Amino acid sequence: MLFDNHGRQLRYLRLAVTERCNLRCFYCMPEEGLNWSKKTDILSYEEMLRLVNILAELGISKVRITGGEPFVRRDLIPFMENLVKVPGIDKVNITTNGTAPLKHIATMKTIGINAVNLSLDSLDPERFKTITRRDEFDSVWAFYRELINQGLTTKINAVVMEDQNLDDIIPMSALTRTDPVSIRFIEEMPFNGGSKGYLPIKWNYRKIIEHIQTEFPRIERLADEKSSTSYNYRIPGAEGTIGVIPAYTRTICGTCDRIRLTPKGELKTCLYQNGGFNFRDFMRAGATDDDIRNQFLQLFKKRAKDGFEAEAQQSDENGSLQSMATIGG
Ligand code: 5AD
Ligand code: SF4
Repeated sequence: MLFDNHGRQLRYLRLAVTERCNLRCFYCMPEEGLNWSKKTDILSYEEMLRLVNILAELGISKVRITGGEPFVRRDLIPFMENLVKVPGIDKVNITTNGTAPLKHIATMKTIGINAVNLSLDSLDPERFKTITRRDEFDSVWAFYRELINQGLTTKINAVVMEDQNLDDIIPMSALTRTDPVSIRFIEEMPFNGGSKGYLPIKWNYRKIIEHIQTEFPRIERLADEKSSTSYNYRIPGAEGTIGVIPAYTRTICGTCDRIRLTPKGELKTCLYQNGGFNFRDFMRAGATDDDIRNQFLQLFKKRAKDGFEAEAQQSDENGSLQSMATIGG
């Protein structure tokens, strides 16, 4: 088993397969998109599989595919089929914006991808359009319905934005009464790729829960799953659950079991870390599997204690020039 320098077991890899996206959520990237990397600067699927095989030997058992929007990268489905087969990997999940063709849902089920996180910040088509700068609500909603109909484990991630979607908090919470979905409200983080400035948030996870309680005063707190990123609640008798993710407040770092690989092959042992050791260059310079293994082990022993320590170690000032799409979801 693999432990970091703070005694936390590492089990979970978030693998960003592309920076690109067909939406432009303004908390994630500017209207003109990001300064996209050349194709050759992005890890090939073969390189990713090589790294995942080594990480699985070291104890990683769960992989989440993220981006950008994973489905904008070619041949994602065959790649996922290969990923599912890596010895030691027993769960492969994906985070998507839900604009992909509906037929992918049945395919994912067939290859053993049974849990999907859908990024959806509003149930109102106009607000959705303002937030994502694209008119795609109807296809995303159809994708959601299909996930529920086909019985995939479905979570909705909604970033809470003070001037945008506060009016969605109650309707989204209400959706859990009839649908077996986990709605998670995420604190907005300062990773918007320079899309806008960033002011420390007022709507932190406590305020979000208090707000939900004004409408649903009897919500029950649920037990935390191991290394959970969210605090979870249920409206009595509801099919689904409501969660809050303290992505900015960072009260969950103590049990963090996650590492990230960016599309360019940088390893991040914390979301708030800037840069990261580049395994693409290391592999392309001829590193052996043993070299790679040792390098991972070294980096895991230098992990920041929490997101505040990682942030304090950043070399450049402007954290918000980073984007979740380049960090890797
Ligand atoms: N703050 C919080 N969450 C963000 N995401 C993207 N950018 C931000 C941000 N600045 C979320 C997306 C998606 C997940 C991968 O990250 O909404 O659900
Ligand atoms: Fe695309 Fe997701 Fe970023 Fe929105 S948050 S622009 S859907 S990568």
